[in-house]
Amino acid sequence: MATTHKLILGNCMSMEEIPDGSVHLMVTSPPYFNAPFDYKGLFKTYGQYLGVLRNFAQETFRVLQNGRIAVLNIDDMLIDGEKFPIVADATKIFQEAGFRYRDRIIWKKPDGYLRISRRSGVILQNPYPMYFYPDNLLENIIIFQKGKFDYHSISKDVREKSKVDTKEIQKNKWYMTLWEMNNVMPGSPLEKGIAAFPEELPYRAIKLFSYKGETVLDPFAGSGTTMKKARELERNSIGIEIKKSLVPVIKKKLGFDGGQNTFFTDQNDKLEIINRKAGKYGHIS
Ligand SMILES: C[S@@+](CC[C@H](N)C(=O)[O-])C[C@H]1O[C@@H](n2cnc3c(N)ncnc32)[C@H](O)[C@@H]1O
Repeated sequence: MATTHKLILGNCMSMEEIPDGSVHLMVTSPPYFNAPFDYKGLFKTYGQYLGVLRNFAQETFRVLQNGRIAVLNIDDMLIDGEKFPIVADATKIFQEAGFRYRDRIIWKKPDGYLRISRRSGVILQNPYPMYFYPDNLLENIIIFQKGKFDYHSISKDVREKSKVDTKEIQKNKWYMTLWEMNNVMPGSPLEKGIAAFPEELPYRAIKLFSYKGETVLDPFAGSGTTMKKARELERNSIGIEIKKSLVPVIKKKLGFDGGQNTFFTDQNDKLEIINRKAGKYGHIS
């Protein structure tokens, strides 16, 4: 099945190119608040960060078809000893945008992840009270729904073609609220400097919450992981990314760079790049 992929270069606080109710699933990982990845200092205040999330939530609600799902990989952020309650605030913001809060899954990274994000060393070096900072190997995946899904709106044929493999669900324990998945190693070639999520995350979301031939949106596209999995799973995709410099990375990841990509079944797939004019919601280089 040939699929189409659209990359919009601009700020996802506006999704003006996307018509109301035209998207079937949203999967994304918003930038961290003041993380060393994504531009340090991109958000001057926490309030400004929440403002971006608010616009993104409202636009996501507008473009999603009724009954459909929004999946956010997001986590609280510790800055100078203060934890910012991003998960709670994002949940509230999505509820205020009209969504129903449907579920929360915890993503557990392998224990080896600690080797690259150690904070517990503080108490090991100073084994006294008040030096305790636990290592964090968890992230949240929060799931929202717009209204109720009409199961009869899907044809029998598409329903069968999109069938989920129950053996895979059992074997990899998708049925629990704890998903153990490897993280992307920082410095891996395509994702260098991008806080990319593992392919397994959009893979599960796309399989569980969309049908073949439908459209999956990632408003913070990064290296294009969601778009790649959408293509592999025979879904169309729309990505929005503010950094124009990521175009070559996204093209490569999606297999639109002229290289050999044996894992894609249809060579008639298309990638369209929409370069927003500079302005309020334009891209940055
Ligand atoms: C956490 S990364 C996403 C990584 C992605 N999931 C992947 O696997 O590669 C967040 C991305 O959002 C982009 N970004 C930040 N603010 C944005 C905005 N307002 N609109 C669109 N993209 C934005 C950043 O440039 C960064 O590439």
